Amino acid sequence: MEEELIQIKNSAVSLILDAKDKRELDDLKIRFLGRSGRLTLAIRELSKLPKEKRPEIGRLANEVKNTIEETIFEKESRLTKQRSQKLKEKIDITIPGIKPLIGHLHPLSQVLYNVIDVFKSLGFQTADGPEIETDKYNFGVLNFPKDHPARDTQQTLFLDTHNSKHTPGETILRTHTSTMQGRIMEKIKPPFRVIVPGKVFRYEQTDSSHGFEFWQFEGYAVDKNITFTDLMGTLDYFVRKFFGESTKIKFASHNFPFTEPSLEGYVSCVVCKEKGCNFCKQSGWVEVLGGGMIHPNVLNNVGIDPSRWQGFAFGTGLSRLATLKFQMDDLRLLTNPDLRILNQF
Ligand code: DAH
Repeated sequence: MEEELIQIKNSAVSLILDAKDKRELDDLKIRFLGRSGRLTLAIRELSKLPKEKRPEIGRLANEVKNTIEETIFEKESRLTKQRSQKLKEKIDITIPGIKPLIGHLHPLSQVLYNVIDVFKSLGFQTADGPEIETDKYNFGVLNFPKDHPARDTQQTLFLDTHNSKHTPGETILRTHTSTMQGRIMEKIKPPFRVIVPGKVFRYEQTDSSHGFEFWQFEGYAVDKNITFTDLMGTLDYFVRKFFGESTKIKFASHNFPFTEPSLEGYVSCVVCKEKGCNFCKQSGWVEVLGGGMIHPNVLNNVGIDPSRWQGFAFGTGLSRLATLKFQMDDLRLLTNPDLRILNQF
C-alpha cells in the first residue's frame, strides 16, 4: 500500500508537471483526485488494512493528496502566467488602432437640411410629393395651356401608358417641384408658407451642369397683402444664410406661365467673388432660381380667391445650390457613389 501511494504521487507529479494546458491539467485532476480517481480509490482501500497500520498509511495518503493538490495549483498558476505572457507578445499595444468607418450625410442631404433649416426659421413647413405625376399638376393647374409652347421648356419624360387605363400623355415624370403648388394648395387654406424639396426629371442631354434627374425645391407663401418685395426679401435672406452674409443676389425679369410678374435670381459667384471664373462662365454671377407672384389663374384653379389672397412662389435647383456651395465643377459628381468623392464633402 505504501509503495502504491508513493507510485501514485510520483506518476501524478510528473504528469502534472508535463501538462501542456489547462485542459490536460483538469483531466489529470479527475484522473487522480476525482470520485473514481486513482488516489481516491486507494484511500478507500485503507479500511481494509489492519487497524495498527491505518494511522501511518493514512498520514502518508494525506501527504500524497496534499502534494498532488499543491502541484496542480502551482502548475495552474504557471500555465495562466504563460498564457498571458503569450497574449502580450501577440498584442502589440503600440500599433495604432484601426479607425472605425463613420458615415456622414451625403452632400445633397447636407444642403437639403440646410435649406429646410433656413426656411423653417422663416415659418415655412416642409412637404413632399410624388415623382410620377399627371399632366394636370405638372402643367394644367399651373396655367400651362394645352399645346402651348411654354410646355416645350420643360423637356418632359412621358410614361408608357400602354395596357393601362391612363390616357396617353397624361402620366409623366414631374419636370419640376412646382407640381406641389396645386397638390397642396387644393387641400389647405391660406395663410400658409411651404417648401417642397424633391427629385425632378427632364429629357435632357447630361453634361457638367445638366442632368436628366436632379433636385429642386419649390417654395410658396400665400397670405393677405403679400408683395413682390416680400419674395425678393425672402430670397435675399435665404441666400445670405445659406452661402454666407457676403453673398449677393440680383434679379432679372422673366416669364413663367404660373407667376405674374416673374423673376430670375442670380447669386454672386461664391468661387471667384464676382471676378469671373470658369464656374460662373466669367460672368461673376450664377443663375439659381425662378420665381414670381402666383398667377391669379393658379389661385383660382386651386380654389383660392385671388381678390382676397396673394402669394409668391419660387423654384430653385437644389443640385445647383449644392455644387455651388461645395464648389464642385460637375453636377454629375452628386450622383456618383464613389467614396473618394463623397468623403471630400
Ligand atoms: N418650376 C420652374 C422650373 O423648374 C421654376 C420656378 C419658376 C418655380 C418660377 C416657381 C416659380 O415657383 O414661381 O423651371
